[in-house]
Amino acid sequence: MIRKAVIPVAGLGTRMLPITKVVPKELLNIIDRPIIEYVVDEIISSGINTLIFIISQGKGGIIDYFDTNLNLRSFLRERNKTDLLKKVEQVEEKIEHLVEVRQKIPEGLGHAVLMAERAIENEVFAVVLGDDLVDGEVPCLKQLIEAYEKLSEKTKNHSIIAVEKVSREEVSKYGIIDGEQINKNLIKIKKVVEKPSVKEAPSNLAIIGRYIFSPVIFEFLKKIPKSKGGEYQLTDAIQLMIENGYEVYGYLFKGIRFDTGNKEGFFKTVLHYAIKDKNLREVLKKFVNEQKIT
Ligand code: G1P
Repeated sequence: MIRKAVIPVAGLGTRMLPITKVVPKELLNIIDRPIIEYVVDEIISSGINTLIFIISQGKGGIIDYFDTNLNLRSFLRERNKTDLLKKVEQVEEKIEHLVEVRQKIPEGLGHAVLMAERAIENEVFAVVLGDDLVDGEVPCLKQLIEAYEKLSEKTKNHSIIAVEKVSREEVSKYGIIDGEQINKNLIKIKKVVEKPSVKEAPSNLAIIGRYIFSPVIFEFLKKIPKSKGGEYQLTDAIQLMIENGYEVYGYLFKGIRFDTGNKEGFFKTVLHYAIKDKNLREVLKKFVNEQKIT
């Protein structure tokens, strides 16, 4: 059973400056909830109740968002704002067990995940990145867990990563995998490369921010040197794990993925969730008509 998820949210959010000077990118709002809440909802509806946030200076607002604000609660109660009180309580009661770990120096995703080692206590665990939102009938992480468990019937100490086909031009934004197709959705990974050039990329299958790791990953996170961007890359530890004989699989999930960490991706995410909302969909249709957008 997978009980714990690591959510690295220590990044500086430079792609979304200047707002990220003061607001963590994970707290930017998509319609009526911050990005991080969509991520947390996905994790919880995948059956995981211990959430380990890796944060850094200036990111405490993320924890506060899910923490109990007693003053606000009594203020709303005194004024009989029952609906608002319910909304607030719902967010504050969402996470059963919240763990906060500080990454004191920004040394990359690999380093951030390594910070969770003590809290993980030698269990299989999930890593979920806050930039990638996936909307699907079945939560992306749940699909990944199911695929992981099916593999557990035949193998052990394995890991599995959500992957998606991207256009050739986009390969340099992601970790890219190379491997052997096992069935429609599953690939046994032979190689992973972090942000290769179009020329170097072994395929167009990109790693998106959902992983299930055997705790052996920590051993390799401790061995890797700094690489791309002068940071410890999670992808390098995965590669080392494969080279040491551990099985790592890529899983082609069902759902639409959004990269909320850049202007276009953020805008598309807002539009997607607006279109899903009955009322906002009408607002949008009317607006497009009025503005004569073609
Ligand atoms: C990270 C990983 C990369 C992965 C991507 C998914 O990169 O290093 O392998 O493909 O997340 O979003 P980042 O987007 O943090 O630069």
